[in-house]
Amino acid sequence: MTDRRDPELEGVSPAPAEESADPYMTDVMSVGDASVLRDAEAAPVTSAEPVPDATRATLGISHRRARRGALFGRRGAEVPTAGADDVTSVIAPPSAPDFPPPTTPPVHATSSAGYAVPAASVRASSVSLLGGASATAERLAEAERIAARQEELSELDARSISAWFGDHQVLLDVSLTMPAGQVTALIGPSGCGKSTFLRILNRMHELVPSASLAGEVRLDGDDIYDPSHRLIDARKDIGMVFQKPNPFPAMSIYDNVIAGLKLTGMRASRDEKDHLVETSLQSAGLWKEVKDRLRAPGGGLSGGQQQRLCIARSLAIKPKVLLMDEPCSALDPTSTRVIEETMGELQKELTIVIVTHNMQQAQRVSQQCAFFLASQGQPGHIVEHGDTEAMFDSPIDPRTYDYVNGRFG
Ligand SMILES: Nc1ncnc2c1ncn2[C@@H]1O[C@H](COP(=O)(O)OP(=O)(O)O)[C@@H](O)[C@H]1O
Ligand SMILES: [Mg+2]
Repeated sequence: MTDRRDPELEGVSPAPAEESADPYMTDVMSVGDASVLRDAEAAPVTSAEPVPDATRATLGISHRRARRGALFGRRGAEVPTAGADDVTSVIAPPSAPDFPPPTTPPVHATSSAGYAVPAASVRASSVSLLGGASATAERLAEAERIAARQEELSELDARSISAWFGDHQVLLDVSLTMPAGQVTALIGPSGCGKSTFLRILNRMHELVPSASLAGEVRLDGDDIYDPSHRLIDARKDIGMVFQKPNPFPAMSIYDNVIAGLKLTGMRASRDEKDHLVETSLQSAGLWKEVKDRLRAPGGGLSGGQQQRLCIARSLAIKPKVLLMDEPCSALDPTSTRVIEETMGELQKELTIVIVTHNMQQAQRVSQQCAFFLASQGQPGHIVEHGDTEAMFDSPIDPRTYDYVNGRFG
């Protein structure tokens, strides 16, 4: 076992003295505050399948707690030995078969350049229906713009992810491609590993002292767990929004938005900050409501506004992917609708992965969907994934059918 802390994080100043409503900055830049996971109040682990000693040794499992909670084992990867009491070894990555590629979204338009444009992208566009040839030309031009923009966005690809808390395996061989510029919804009953999977996508899983994992997470082809990939970059590129809005309550709205800059070491002039605050709040759909009170405390906003403030804070450091763990479950229907609309706009700029228990929300906001399930005592896995419409209208697996139709979970 080795200490996987990024040495660069040693130089990062600790979280500000002000207490956030939730563990702050793991969404943009954790410095190892494991309390971030208190939102993931773990259900008691009752069904831990003991890992045989030989496997334990082979996989490099250790239970030693890290000083700042970042001691982390990545199974199936080559891990240099860190200390005499460590159990470390090297095995080949699990040779699980590749998961079938995700279903291609239905193509509703093809650009003149030959780009296939997903239905949702076309829905999201504001093409006027003037009728006739000019409308068609306009629609094709818009489709082309969307396709071009999507080419610049980032794809996240999780391959053969397995995860453990101590000896308790909670995910088994999960592979999922989260396409660029689309919203991928993770659905499934409580406890099947959705939040764990999400936290693995931006290296927050390793904040739990006993946590370990196997597999790869590729952002545009680069494994974010590769030793050459800096933790700080993974957190910058892949932002996170939690279930409970977690702004600094006493800090101004303005300072909340740019709080991530300091912790990521990004420098900006006053003008640049002003611009960043405005554009981030605009993208988060909050600018109009707060532009005249940027110096007011973030804690004075409504729950829905606070959540959008947290989205703005994540956006301010220009992530390529935004992870959202049940971002609306603590909000009223109106705030939920505003956040959903905001997501529709945001996906033009970045890739989104959302965990939701709300099946209507999954259908409204996502183009891709993955159904997670954990049988009694077994680790969570993906039963079925693909185009959201197909998952809801004609699921292949009867368990998917039952879940999306509210028969369990
Ligand atoms: N910090 C933790 N320590 C130990 N076990 C945990 C921790 N977090 C989650 N778990 C366990 O991992 C499993 C998956 O949890 P989670 O990823 O939160 O599921 P979901 O988000 O689908 O409800 C559960 O059995 C849960 O008890
Ligand atoms: Mg969860």
